[in-house]
Amino acid sequence: MDHTQVKDYVQQNKQRFLDELMELLRIPSVSADPKYKPDVLRMAEAVKEKLEAAGAEKVEVSQTKGYPVVYGEKMIDPKLPTVLVYGHYDVQPADPLELWHSPPFEPVIKTTPIHPDGAIFARGSCDDKGQAYMHVKAFELMMRTNTLPCNVKFMIEGEEEVGSANLAAWVKENKERLKADIILISDTSMIGNKTPSIDTGLRGLAYMEVEVTGPNRDLHSGVYGGAVANPINILCKMIASMHDKSNHITIPGFYDKVLKLSAKERKELNKAPFKLANYKKDLEIGDIHGEKGFTTLERTGIRPTLDVNGIWGGYTGEGAKTVLPSKAYAKISMRLVPGQNSTQISNLFAKHFKKIAPKGVKVKVTAHHGGEPVVVSTSSHAYLSAAKAMEQSYGKKPIPTRGGGSIPIVALFKKELGLDSILFGFGLDSDALHSPNEHYGVFNYLKGIETIPLFYKNFANQK
Ligand code: BES
Ligand code: MN
Ligand code: MN
Repeated sequence: MDHTQVKDYVQQNKQRFLDELMELLRIPSVSADPKYKPDVLRMAEAVKEKLEAAGAEKVEVSQTKGYPVVYGEKMIDPKLPTVLVYGHYDVQPADPLELWHSPPFEPVIKTTPIHPDGAIFARGSCDDKGQAYMHVKAFELMMRTNTLPCNVKFMIEGEEEVGSANLAAWVKENKERLKADIILISDTSMIGNKTPSIDTGLRGLAYMEVEVTGPNRDLHSGVYGGAVANPINILCKMIASMHDKSNHITIPGFYDKVLKLSAKERKELNKAPFKLANYKKDLEIGDIHGEKGFTTLERTGIRPTLDVNGIWGGYTGEGAKTVLPSKAYAKISMRLVPGQNSTQISNLFAKHFKKIAPKGVKVKVTAHHGGEPVVVSTSSHAYLSAAKAMEQSYGKKPIPTRGGGSIPIVALFKKELGLDSILFGFGLDSDALHSPNEHYGVFNYLKGIETIPLFYKNFANQK
């Protein structure tokens, strides 16, 4: 089939493709909050129905210890290559609700300067319902036009946004069923609608929670203040000490295993278009901030970080309460890069955090989920098939870039199934993922549906 036919199919079915996605976006499948459990389960059923309607077989809502994985496949010939599509149907919590311009689970299409053709505003529109659903619609297109050139398997999970803790066991139990030649994932971003790019790496993650305890009870801050360690003051000092003047992380051993890129690789990475003025304007910040000696693209792509995600304790209600609190807490995450390992880094963090605590407080450190970093080869047949597909549909060669986010399951796929992944993302960093007013361009959605069949065609066409 030539590409005009693909484009025609997308144009003719455009409204239905949008309506179906909106239907899925109305289901508040928030995996982090148990309150939404019935909705998450309802979402799994909806994904199952959509896969069946598109022509998938052996479709199943497969149980795990947590939320189920939706599996489906279309095997046309065992001799042909098999593409395993991964996506997630769960979404991040929508709060703070008051900052949304329209309700997070009532999708609406509005234009923005970046999306003149309109963007769908809803939680999960880009991350990852919109991007995952492109694959279901591209599959439908290939089924209806009789042009599916290889076998396809789908696994759409429901716990990505909470660390995919139960997925490893499921993957291990389903190794046979998951046999494939490549994993295809649309859950990352590209540089811009006129600047296609493909992520060739993801950062890993080590997520910690700390509790600092001072006195055994909250105290009058006048009676005891100045004489007893305030755990919030102490926690702030401890956190501040974990970056030095150059914004290097001070945990001993933290950088030991970080893979250094060659000058040539760094030069390549910095070729990606980046406008500092636009970046600052978009975020309304006076200046950028980060590790000395590295560019913004390097800071988010190839360098590890340590960030406080939340900090609490003491009195935060209306008005003023004079109190010297007994406890202080923080959630601290570290983004990891190739060479680093999440268990090792979690241990280094815990050891260091305990060491720097003054005697006046007790500390407790707990590790939450982790994930390992990933690099994708740019010389594999699969990568070249994806790059060619983008070139064919955008008329421009995609730029290889490093994604700063994490998809922990990608490293696990390599470990358990021996399979590489292609990060075929069509979202934009400015689409407000995990933020209020998340959106996904109508152009991006339809262009993705158009580009995916080209990947299949190129990939099936073995060198
Ligand atoms: N889709 C994102 C990851 C992402 C976004 C990668 C943009 C590259 C560019 C994914 O849903 C996500 O948010 N992952 C979490 C990790 C998880 C363990 C909670 C993340 O990166 O914080
Ligand atoms: Mn995602
Ligand atoms: Mn996400």
